[in-house]
Amino acid sequence: MGGENKVVAKPQAMCSLCLAFSVFVFSLTNCASVSDSHFSPPNNYLIDCGSTNKTKLKDGRIFKSDYDTTSLLSTNEDVQASVDSINIKASSSVPLSSLPLYQTARIFPEESTYTFHISKTGPLWVRLYFFPLPHSSYNLTSAVFSVQTERIVLLHDFSMRTNITLLFKEYLINVSDSKFSLKFKPKKKSFAFINAIEVVSAPDALISNSAATVPPVGESKGLFLSALQISYRVNVGGPPINPNKDTLSRNWEPDNPYNIFPEGTRNASVPAKSIRYPKDAPLIAPSSVYSTGAQMKDAQVNGPNFNLSWRMNVESNYSYLIRMHFCDIVSKSLNQLYFNVYINEMVGMSDLDLSSQTKALRTAFYKDFVLNESAITDGSITVQVGLANPQQSARNAILNGIEVMKISNAADSLDGLFSVDGKYKGPSSTRKTMKIVAGFGLAFAATALLFIAMICIRWHKRPQGWEKRNNFSSWLLPLSSSQPTSSCLFSTKSSNYGSRKSKNRISGYFPSNMIERFFPFSELQQATNNFDEQAVVGVGGFGKVYLGMLEDRTKVAIKRGNPTSEQGINEFRTELDMLSKLRHRHLVSLIGFCDENSEMILVYEYMANGPLRSHLYGSNLTHLSWKQRLEICIGAARGLHYLHTGAAQSIVHRDVKTTNILLDENFVAKVSDFGLSKAVPNKAYVSTAVKGSFGYLDPEYFRSQQLTEKSDIYSFGVVLFEVLCARPVICPTLPTERVNIADWAKQQHRRGMLHKIIDPRIADTITSNSLKKYVEAAEKCLQDQGIDRPNMGDVLRNLEYALQLQETAPSIHASEDKIADFIVFGSPDEKKEDHSRAKTSDDPNFTNFALFSQITNFQGR
Ligand SMILES: *[C@@H]1O[C@H](CO)[C@@H](O)[C@H](O)[C@H]1NC(C)=O
Ligand SMILES: *[C@@H]1O[C@H](CO)[C@@H](O)[C@H](O)[C@H]1NC(C)=O
Ligand SMILES: *[C@@H]1O[C@H](CO)[C@@H](O)[C@H](O)[C@H]1NC(C)=O
Ligand SMILES: *[C@@H]1O[C@H](CO)[C@@H](O)[C@H](O)[C@H]1NC(C)=O
Ligand SMILES: *[C@@H]1O[C@H](CO)[C@@H](O)[C@H](O)[C@H]1NC(C)=O
Ligand SMILES: *[C@@H]1O[C@H](CO)[C@@H](O)[C@H](O)[C@H]1NC(C)=O
Ligand SMILES: *[C@@H]1O[C@H](CO)[C@@H](O)[C@H](O)[C@H]1NC(C)=O
Ligand SMILES: *[C@@H]1O[C@H](CO)[C@@H](O)[C@H](O)[C@H]1NC(C)=O
Repeated sequence: MGGENKVVAKPQAMCSLCLAFSVFVFSLTNCASVSDSHFSPPNNYLIDCGSTNKTKLKDGRIFKSDYDTTSLLSTNEDVQASVDSINIKASSSVPLSSLPLYQTARIFPEESTYTFHISKTGPLWVRLYFFPLPHSSYNLTSAVFSVQTERIVLLHDFSMRTNITLLFKEYLINVSDSKFSLKFKPKKKSFAFINAIEVVSAPDALISNSAATVPPVGESKGLFLSALQISYRVNVGGPPINPNKDTLSRNWEPDNPYNIFPEGTRNASVPAKSIRYPKDAPLIAPSSVYSTGAQMKDAQVNGPNFNLSWRMNVESNYSYLIRMHFCDIVSKSLNQLYFNVYINEMVGMSDLDLSSQTKALRTAFYKDFVLNESAITDGSITVQVGLANPQQSARNAILNGIEVMKISNAADSLDGLFSVDGKYKGPSSTRKTMKIVAGFGLAFAATALLFIAMICIRWHKRPQGWEKRNNFSSWLLPLSSSQPTSSCLFSTKSSNYGSRKSKNRISGYFPSNMIERFFPFSELQQATNNFDEQAVVGVGGFGKVYLGMLEDRTKVAIKRGNPTSEQGINEFRTELDMLSKLRHRHLVSLIGFCDENSEMILVYEYMANGPLRSHLYGSNLTHLSWKQRLEICIGAARGLHYLHTGAAQSIVHRDVKTTNILLDENFVAKVSDFGLSKAVPNKAYVSTAVKGSFGYLDPEYFRSQQLTEKSDIYSFGVVLFEVLCARPVICPTLPTERVNIADWAKQQHRRGMLHKIIDPRIADTITSNSLKKYVEAAEKCLQDQGIDRPNMGDVLRNLEYALQLQETAPSIHASEDKIADFIVFGSPDEKKEDHSRAKTSDDPNFTNFALFSQITNFQGR
């Protein structure tokens, strides 16, 4: 190597579990919606808990007895079933009018779980019936317990103490697993009970993933991820509807309790049979909802102008899904009825013309709105319809039904701020970060569980000293890709590792000409003043990085792994593996290694200017000029281009980020940290456990777990915006839409507001053409589909062009550009390669030819 060396540093951005989760994107299969009005639920579990006999309701539904359903129930206890569940029957105390379901209950002294096999995934109704029956040894009124699914908290520390009444809770949960469980979790020293349970499929078409938002007017995506709790279901202007009259066994209540201006309201109704449905939505609400409605009283005459208004109390700090049902049962001909729809005094729809929506009278129409929690200030939701224009001819407005559904919050809870694991996810902790989930519109239902399981497994297997690692993401994510192969240099078991006489093996394993030298441990001790903490210049994926001075006064970066970390050993192996075969001016070079005394030490050239990130933000280093930034991006792009194309097998870096782009004393960029890299046959992909760093991780790779070099392209796109804007890629303290730089930059670009987020220190030194080209390149990198993203060669060309455009423009602050004079443009590719060869030509071993032949051998290992 030339005498110059570098630091390898890998400080990680803050990373929490929830943050890590928020990068997960999944799409689960969706089934075609049922098109006839008789919906027979594929999953249909009806349990009358505590009952010895099955129970038939008046609506015809049959609830199974407790005895028939005990196989679904498991008690999570070592204690044997001596104090098992207790069935009680005390019909005398139950209000007469109530369902027979309330007359028996089951008591759970211990945590107990019902597990249901789900034959078809999709939305599920979960309905819970509670009534605290009297019992000789259990006072049900004082029971305190939680009810939760694998992911969603339905009830947290719930008790009926304050309100002894029949209680019915209804939830809608999109289930994507073949198992669904309901866990009853008593609080310490207490117990749980339940009178009846329904777990029943709902049609897929019932809920869509997105809805209009108020405020501001927009679209909210990600409802599939959320669980819903039905707060109100109102048949406006009509009678109550019982489960037997509803296609989906739902209850609808009349609107009288909520109508806050009944004086202005007049009922409207038509025969239910006359209601028509558009093709896709026959099951959304029964025709008896649409066939009745409320309209404006005396609005046709020249009376005062007013709104029809309904108000419902709701819990603060939740967003709500509001579904409004409309059907024009009052007009005599099309296009006569126009009105506005307001939610909490904000316009939901203006000039709603039902005729243009349905193309016919008496045809069902509904509209979903998500009302943000921030817009619920007085604990209530007010829904209004009123004249769009007081001058219009038909002075009327109509509403036929309202459904109000609570949306699970950032803790995946419908009751409080504790998630299923009991962790507090309130405002002070990770609430914001969890909101990212919603912001991204990402789904992680099923796989979140999988990952939780993985985390548990890894937790149990965690190596000693794991806490010292701050590379949490790489600890969390990889599982399967770290399998040992028979020809592995290092055993994955640290105990074996220590007993190896591995020096010889390493020397034999690596082509002798590729590794500069083997360092005795004592020499490195000396170089780092016995690994003095003062010499630490970074903490990397598997250990600390020290600045060392060799005997010949060459500065080197010395990365010392922790041999007890299995992950560390794998990363160490990969890095040694990769770097011993790769030589490029824009890749960090390995000088040597040491594996004495079961040490895992890699010695690199020292990069005097450290990681790129510290020149962008978070330090008080002088900021880089636009030209320097372009140069650096071009350098990194060259390094990556070489990785992707320089060999028979393309090598995917998998951890491209600004802390892995290091700068030497001349601000020449070099890509570092190959601990996660993986070889991928060109034009192909490999399936692998997802690894990478939060904020940079390609969502497509995440979804499919199939790695191609396009994942690096995505990460590089994130880097480009990070360089432009000089802010962290994930910044949880910012408002949700800004948290993730990739989303925010794309959004600002679409709005033509990109100039607002450019690093203000350089914003007015960038020529508009250069910026345009650069942003174009960055944006293409961030395309959702890998196939739409450019390859690194294209990115490189665009960046070079951006630099040319900057240089050919009248120079703005040329004096700031420290490296401008040693990179010559014109035929940029040629010149730069020449330059890079000049830099490394003092090392005859590392010609490209030798390198390529090494990589070709790679497959065999
Ligand atoms: C309940 O079931 C038991 C046995 O399973 C039966 O003997 C009894 O007649 C049933 N009672 C009713 C009311 O159906
Ligand atoms: C049951 O508990 C409630 C609340 O703790 C209490 O008010 C009530 O008196 C208790 N009932 C009996 C029968 O002990
Ligand atoms: C008890 O709950 C019922 C139904 O939720 C409600 O109508 C009633 O007002 C509540 N009573 C009290 C005292 O909170
Ligand atoms: C359930 O959610 C998944 C995403 O998690 C989505 O793909 C699927 O369409 C949803 N199914 C329904 C019917 O809501
Ligand atoms: C509308 O009809 C419902 C039930 O049919 C009734 O309860 C309500 O009082 C009626 N409202 C008006 C304003 O007539
Ligand atoms: C809602 O959240 C705010 C701020 O986080 C808190 O101050 C308030 O007490 C919460 N309100 C309720 C009803 O929980
Ligand atoms: C109807 O309600 C909306 C929103 O609350 C309000 O802006 C509008 O002035 C109301 N119209 C009338 C005529 O009161
Ligand atoms: C509610 O609005 C706030 C800020 O206006 C936003 O950060 C948040 O994501 C919104 N919540 C939902 C569920 O849309």
